[in-house]
Amino acid sequence: MRVMIKKESVEALKNRVDIVDVVGGYLDLRRSGANYMARCPFHDERTASFSVNSKGFYYCFGCGAKGDVIDFVQNMEKVSFGEAAQKIADMYNFTLEYERGADYKKRDYRPLEALRNFYRDNLSQTVEAKKYLLDRGLGEAMIEKFEIGYAPDNAPQLEFLRSRKIDYANAIAAGVLVDDAERGRFYARFTKRIIFPIYAATGAIVGFGGRTISDHPAKYINSPQSEFFDKSRTLFALPLAREAILRAKSAIVCEGYMDAVMLHQAGFTNAIATLGTALTTDHLPLLKRLENPRVILSYDSDAAGQEAAFKAAKLLAANNFSGGVALFSGGKDPADLVQSGSAEVLARSYENPVPFAKFALQKIIDRAPNPDAAFAECGEFLNNLSDLAYENARMFAAAMLGIDYRRFKRRYRPLEAAPSLLSGRGDINELQVIKTLRIDPALLAALADYLDERIFCYHRDLFRALFSGDERDFYPLAAEERIGVLSAEQTREALRALLVIYYEKELLRFRAFGDAERIKSAQLVLNELKTQKKLAPFREI
Ligand code: CTP
Ligand code: MN
Repeated sequence: MRVMIKKESVEALKNRVDIVDVVGGYLDLRRSGANYMARCPFHDERTASFSVNSKGFYYCFGCGAKGDVIDFVQNMEKVSFGEAAQKIADMYNFTLEYERGADYKKRDYRPLEALRNFYRDNLSQTVEAKKYLLDRGLGEAMIEKFEIGYAPDNAPQLEFLRSRKIDYANAIAAGVLVDDAERGRFYARFTKRIIFPIYAATGAIVGFGGRTISDHPAKYINSPQSEFFDKSRTLFALPLAREAILRAKSAIVCEGYMDAVMLHQAGFTNAIATLGTALTTDHLPLLKRLENPRVILSYDSDAAGQEAAFKAAKLLAANNFSGGVALFSGGKDPADLVQSGSAEVLARSYENPVPFAKFALQKIIDRAPNPDAAFAECGEFLNNLSDLAYENARMFAAAMLGIDYRRFKRRYRPLEAAPSLLSGRGDINELQVIKTLRIDPALLAALADYLDERIFCYHRDLFRALFSGDERDFYPLAAEERIGVLSAEQTREALRALLVIYYEKELLRFRAFGDAERIKSAQLVLNELKTQKKLAPFREI
């Protein structure tokens, strides 16, 4: 079934969207001149050779992948042209026009919308359901905000759908009605359950979660996977929490509907939840799109929650998310704590979450059968981190294991064959400094006063490339394992050594000319650098 979108409509969509915005939802883009760069998602690499320009195209200098915004989503999500276009259109609330006669049927949201209202009206009329919520500590305001409802028996629901002339086929497609062909009847998917409507990030209603209040063996049931609802790409309460997440630059991610609702009630309006599923890579673009907030994982403190937190922490650390895991004791979940009036316990653990890498390393070490296994598994974990995160995390790991951090060796996956950079003598210092400055722009900025290309005798071109170069200039450097990344302190130290070499050469030159004044100046600077071990701003004498 080929979906035909009108050509003009595709063009209009492309004009409307900003490729940087869309790609930025998937990749960690960094501005570089007029373009943006990232690590290429279409081939394995450690340096960023994937570029996006503001004219609407991407191009990878490493593997040659290229195209426009629709190609990108198509390749990224492995979906058809039509699906990719529709996905982008959904992100921008843009209505695509389809060719007449095409067999594409526009999704019918009426069954979901109508039932949401019906369930909501039913809640106020069902004493036991209302009582259930109030007993759990949930107030009127949240019931309204989250549009919480109650699904009654089967019969009144079918009756309601008929009275509203809602097409059963569409109700089935939307996941709210089930066709029991064997018994030749239809039945409502949700019965005798508290209902939590679920919205996509775009604000469209996509499904429901239903909690039993009559001890049905399935505590929760959720809408099935459908063209409306993809639970591994949906975060409950996201539209409601969006503003607060952007404001706080942080998102609290919990496990359950009740957790999210109760957290909002307690004032944590940046709370969202995964829906009975682990946090997966598919969820991450949703978070990134909210301007890369800090993530605070607030899972149940029981064994299952700890296990889920471990997996999520590894995923978030490897994807460069800041934030951490908030822990509390007693097998409780956030909803329990709000209900028992312990919101300040939550607030405290949200203020000081355990950083993802630290949490994951601690769990790895706790679980390892022996120290050698712990060391090996920590190394494996560290290796998946970005260069910068790696340096911090290996300090943690080394401290926890009581070993020298240098025992962890960074492994880069091999890139293309590179000529050895280590041919000269005494140039490792230069390369280490350049490698470090390249991955840490903040440090580069902080050290600007001490830097000058003249102190890089062996790798001056590479140093210049930090400011004006192409990503490809750094391939050999990234691939050279013997060149490590330095801490800020080590970088200053290495820089001091380079400055000493530079001024000592200058001193020799001045002596050759018998230039007494300059000799004195050089000696003063060298004294500062060598004896006082102070970094002096670069200046030409
Ligand atoms: N879940 C599910 N199906 C189940 C159990 C759980 O889909 N049979 C999902 C729901 O989204 C639920 C989340 O997993 O909200 C967390 O599960 P759990 O901690 O067991 O539920 P709580 O939210 O704590 O349930 P409640 O507080 O209502 O007892
Ligand atoms: Mn729970």
